[in-house]
Amino acid sequence: MRHGLLLLVALASACERRAPPSVEGPTATVAVPSASAVEPAPEPRPSASAPAPSTSVGVRVRPPPERPPAAPTALLAGLPRPAGAHAGFAGPVDPGKDKQWLERLASAPITEITRNPGGATITLRVRFGDGSRAVFKPEQKHSASNFRGEIAAYHLDRIVGFSRTAAVVGRAIGYPHLVEQLEASDADGKFVERLREEVPARDGRVAGAMIAWHAGRLVSAEPPKGWTDGLRSKEPPSEELAKRLPEWSDLVVFDFLIDNTDRWSGGNVLSLGGGPLIFLDNASSFAPWRASRGETTMARLSPICRFRRATVTALRALGPAAAPDARLGVRLSSTLAADPLAPVLSKGQIAGVDARVAQFLEHVTRCESELGEALTLSL
Ligand SMILES: Nc1ncnc2c1ncn2[C@@H]1O[C@H](COP(=O)(O)OP(=O)(O)OP(=O)(O)O)[C@@H](O)[C@H]1O
Ligand SMILES: [Mg+2]
Repeated sequence: MRHGLLLLVALASACERRAPPSVEGPTATVAVPSASAVEPAPEPRPSASAPAPSTSVGVRVRPPPERPPAAPTALLAGLPRPAGAHAGFAGPVDPGKDKQWLERLASAPITEITRNPGGATITLRVRFGDGSRAVFKPEQKHSASNFRGEIAAYHLDRIVGFSRTAAVVGRAIGYPHLVEQLEASDADGKFVERLREEVPARDGRVAGAMIAWHAGRLVSAEPPKGWTDGLRSKEPPSEELAKRLPEWSDLVVFDFLIDNTDRWSGGNVLSLGGGPLIFLDNASSFAPWRASRGETTMARLSPICRFRRATVTALRALGPAAAPDARLGVRLSSTLAADPLAPVLSKGQIAGVDARVAQFLEHVTRCESELGEALTLSL
């Protein structure tokens, strides 16, 4: 009886579905998956084919998982990593788990997709068959959210050695399946409508960044107002600032390299449980039009003349003085080519990365001539 009713409701809702918007331009090729270092947070979960719980408004059936893409074997065989003997800086995320995460993010069956509450852009929560979770940032037309920026930021994080982003891989999900999943989770009708308006289809699928879920509680770690005042002088930073200064300094360097324009609007400077800083929400990075105009976030970087020696050493090894095939742009473009949704960055954007490494190193040299090497690299 109940089964018959569920089937009828599911059929009715399937019939109501409208065609998603489609977009012009290059078709994203759906291919393989990838991974990161965040702990999965397994939780009790319904089986993939179990019906969603009934609500007073209506009864929805959670669709079975769609056939997942193949595992991204080339990416799994050549993960983004620091060069040579450099082993990274022991950030809060364990890159040793990247392989497992990337494989799951790219190719594990998805059993549940729900809205990620809040947020200025469209972000979704995904659950896999093993109970672990991810955030899916779909391509979207009317916002600064650039899912390719999330993918590239992860690769850059691992190549430089920060180890502060979750693992990220490109993945495409069937548009009707995505809508069915949201309807089965009783998503607000207005949200589904907005998704249909703003999320384009490419060959009937939604391309996006699949981002490993941070299991820890996310706690704001905003620096005090005016925190960069005095960071280009010989004055020692206050005791309060000194504690997190190496992390905030690294964050500004990271954002400069990925050309992130939305770190400081509120809510995007976060730590794991009040502990180490993580680099979360990198979707406002690598905007293609900024690369072509040579725009950077130098205004954020230039008041700071205190850097971690390890960060500067790592970037010198990836900069203009390095052999051409050892530079950050080449290394980034080599691992990004293995992402299932490659190409992730254009040649111009890759050239922009190398230009920004050079600009950062020139800034460090200026700081060293103003303050001396010991103070500039004191963190
Ligand atoms: N990988 C993740 N692990 C855990 N929680 C996450 C993750 N990604 C996003 N979130 C949660 O979702 C919120 C919104 O994500 P995000 O900041 O990336 O998107 P947004 O559209 O820019 O949202 P907002 O406008 O609130 O900044 C985050 O503040 C965080 O609480
Ligand atoms: Mg955000």
